[in-house]
Amino acid sequence: MDSIIVQGGGAVSGEIPISGAKNAALTLMPAALLTDQPVTFTNVPRLSDIKTTNELLASLGTEVVVEDDGQKITLTTPEITNQVAHYDIVRKMRASILVLGPMVARDGVAAVSLPGGCAIGARPVDIHLRGLEALGVELDLRDGYVHAKAPNGLTGATYELPFASVGATENLLMAATLTKGTTVLKNVAREPEIVDLADLLRAMGANITGDGSTVMTIEGVDKLHGATHAVVADRIELGTYMMAPLIAGGSVELLGGKRRLLESFCQKLEEAGASITETERGLMVARNGARIQAVDVTTEPYPGFPTDLQAQMMALLCTAEGTSVLNETIFENRFMHAPELVRMGADIEVSGGTATVTGVDKLRGAPVMATDLRASVSLILAGLASTGETRVARVYHLDRGYERVVSKFRAIGANIERIKE
Ligand code: UD1
Repeated sequence: MDSIIVQGGGAVSGEIPISGAKNAALTLMPAALLTDQPVTFTNVPRLSDIKTTNELLASLGTEVVVEDDGQKITLTTPEITNQVAHYDIVRKMRASILVLGPMVARDGVAAVSLPGGCAIGARPVDIHLRGLEALGVELDLRDGYVHAKAPNGLTGATYELPFASVGATENLLMAATLTKGTTVLKNVAREPEIVDLADLLRAMGANITGDGSTVMTIEGVDKLHGATHAVVADRIELGTYMMAPLIAGGSVELLGGKRRLLESFCQKLEEAGASITETERGLMVARNGARIQAVDVTTEPYPGFPTDLQAQMMALLCTAEGTSVLNETIFENRFMHAPELVRMGADIEVSGGTATVTGVDKLRGAPVMATDLRASVSLILAGLASTGETRVARVYHLDRGYERVVSKFRAIGANIERIKE
C-alpha cells in the first residue's frame, strides 16, 4: 500500500488548476441512464471513484467510452440490460445508490444493494427511499438490497425532504424528470453540484425550475435525449488547496476557482486572517500576518460551511493563535483526523459533535493514517506546517477524491512524494 511523505517547514507559492468536481460527476454520470442516447462529459476528474462509477454503469448495460486521458467520458445506454446494482460494486462507493432513481424512472424496475455503514457515520438512505415512494415506487428491502418497482411508471407528487440530503435530492430530481405530471420537491439541497445536475438534465430535455433554492419543480417528460456537459469545478478541492498558503505561508493562485462556490468558507478564512482575491484566472490566496487567528466553525448544508472542508479547517486551526470551536452537524463521526493531528502535537479535545482546538506554535511530523478522504488530505496539510517528516498511510482514500494530489502540491513547491511500501 502506498504512503505519502511530506517534509514540512517551507512556504508555498505558484498555481494549481482545479479539477472537475468528484461529487458532481458521481451524480451526473448515473443521469446518463435516463436516456438511450449518448451523454458526454468533459472536465471529468481522473479519480478511482470515477472508475468505479464506469464499472457500475457498465454492469448495468452502459457503453463507456473514455477519451482525453480520462477527462472525457461518453456514456450510452441503449437499454438497461441488468436491473441489479450488485453489492460488490456498491460497497466500494456509497454514491452508487444514485443509480436507483434513474433506473426505476426509465424502466420501472431496479434493485440496488444497500450501501451499508461508512467511516464517517451511519449514512442511511431512508430519505431517498421515502421520496421515491412518494413518486409511486413500490419498495421492498430484502437480502441487503432495495428492490424497487413502478410497473405503471412514476407519478408526479409533492414531497418535503425531512433533511436537505444532497444524495436524496439528486436521486429524486433524476427520477422526477420522467414522471407523469408535476413533482414539487421541498427542502431540497442547494449545493452547486445539484445545480450542475439540473443543468445537465435540462440539456437532456428535462423541465426543471428552482434548483439552487429550497424548492424545485419538475414537469415530467416522456423521454430525455443525449447531451454534452462540462463538470463544474470542484469546490472542495479548491477549498483544500486554499488552505496550503494559509498553513505553510506564501501565496497560491487556484486556477478556475470561483468565490461564489465557497462564499461562507471564504468569509471564515478571511476572519481567520486570509487574503483572498479574485483574479482573471481564479482565486489568489495568501496569509495576512504571521499567524492565523482562531475562529469558530459550524458545518451546515450549502450555503453554510461544508462538512467536506471541516478536517482541513481543523488542520489549519491547530497552529492558529487562540482557541477555536468546531461543530460538526452533518455527520456524527467525522473527527477521526483529530487523534492523528494530536499525534503531530495538536491540542484538540473532542466531545460529541464538538472539537475544541487550541493553537500550538508548531506541529511535529509523525506517521499518521486516516480513514476517510478529507481526513487524509488534512494530514498532508498539517504536514506542510510541521517540523520534520509526516508519513500518511492509506493513500487509496486520496485516490478516490483528489486528482494528482502529489503533483498539485509539488507545483506550489511542497516537499511531498508518494512511495510504495
Ligand atoms: C454528499 C457528498 C459528501 C458530503 C455530503 C454532505 C457526494 C457523492 N457526497 O454525501 O461528500 O459530505 O453530501 O455535504 O456527493 N441522511 C439521512 N438519510 C438519507 C440521506 C442522508 O439520514 O436518506 C443523513 C446522513 O446520514 C448525513 C446527512 O443526512 O448525516 C447528510 O447526508 P447527505 O447530504 O445525503 O450526504 P451524501 O449525499 O451522502
